[in-house]
Amino acid sequence: MKANGKEVRSVEYDKERNVIRLIDQRALPEELKFFEVGDYKEACYAIKDMVVRGAPAIGVTAAFAMAQAHLQKKDLKEVAGALRATRPTAYDLNYAIDRMLESEDPLRAAMEYYDSILDKGKRIGDYGEALIRDGSTVMTHCNAGALATADYGTALAPIRRAKEKGKKIKVLVSETRPRLQGAKLTAWELSNEGIEYYIIADGASGYFMKKGMVDLIIVGADRIASNGDFANKIGTYEKSVLAKENGVPFYVAAPVSTFDFSIDTGSEIPIEERSEDEVLFISGKRIAPQNSRALNPAFDVTPCDYVTGFITEYGVFKPEEIKKIREKNHYAQGRVA
Ligand code: MRU
Repeated sequence: MKANGKEVRSVEYDKERNVIRLIDQRALPEELKFFEVGDYKEACYAIKDMVVRGAPAIGVTAAFAMAQAHLQKKDLKEVAGALRATRPTAYDLNYAIDRMLESEDPLRAAMEYYDSILDKGKRIGDYGEALIRDGSTVMTHCNAGALATADYGTALAPIRRAKEKGKKIKVLVSETRPRLQGAKLTAWELSNEGIEYYIIADGASGYFMKKGMVDLIIVGADRIASNGDFANKIGTYEKSVLAKENGVPFYVAAPVSTFDFSIDTGSEIPIEERSEDEVLFISGKRIAPQNSRALNPAFDVTPCDYVTGFITEYGVFKPEEIKKIREKNHYAQGRVA
C-alpha cells in the first residue's frame, strides 16, 4: 500500500535479523511508525494490544512468529498455545499456526503463507470489482484493507480494483466504535489511494440505506462457520439486517482460510470481550461518568440469511454454494458437512 509516497506493508519479515516488522496501527493516522517483534512474547503482545489487527494480518504475524521461534529453537507447541490465546475470534490465526505446525520448514511455510495472502487479496479484488458498477456508493465497516491483511485487503480489495479500473466510486466508512478502525484506518487507506470517501457515525448506516444512497455493502470476516454465519466487527450484524430491510446487497469478502469448517453455526464462534476502557475513554479521555461500567464485545455474529454472497479468492459464491467453497479448502476435506 502507498503511504507518504512510499510502498509499505502492515507485516514484513526481516530474514537477516529474524525480526518481524509491523506497522504500529495504534498510532495511525497521526503517525506512520513501526514496531519490531523479536520473539513470540512480543508477537503475542502486538496481537493482543492491536499493534497489528485484522484476521489475515494476525494470521501472517503468527506464521512469522512461529518461524522466528523455530529458528530460536523454542518449543513450537508452547509458542502456538500462547499465540492462539491472544485473540480468540479470528480463525486465520489458528489456520496459520496449524499450517506452521505441520511444516518441516516453518520459515519457508511462513513465506509461502504471506505470498498466498497477498495473492488472495488481489484475486478477491478482481472478483469483487465486478459487483461494483461505475458511479456506485459502497458502504464498509471496520478496516478490512491492506492494514488488515498483508496488502490490498479483503473488503477494500474490490474497491481498490474498481478505482484502478477507472470506475468512479464513493465509499461510506462507518467509524467503528469503540476503536474507530473505520475513521482511523480505512479512512487513512482510502485517502492514500485517492478514493472518495465519507466517514459516517455507526448509527447513521440505516439512514443512508433508507435514502437509497448505498448500492452495496462489503465487509470482511473474522470467522465463517460451515453454514455461512460469520463473525465480524461489532456492528456488522445491525448493518446486515438494515441492508435486507432496505434491499441493499450485502457481501462478505474473505479468503477461504477464514472459513472454519469444524463448526456448524455461528453460535459456536468464540467472541472476544475487550476492556471496558475502550468504550469509556476516547483518545485517553474519559467520556462517561466515573462510576459507569461498559460492555465491550469486539465482534458480533451475522446469520447467513443476511448475506448476498461471499467474495473469495475462487470467485463469488451464494450462501447456498458454501459446499463449493469447502471443496476448495483441502484442509477441510473429509469433515462432515
Ligand atoms: O478487532 P479487529 O480490528 O482485528 O477487527 C477486524 C475486523 O473485524 C475485520 O473486518 C476482519 O478481521 C477482516 S480483515 C480483512
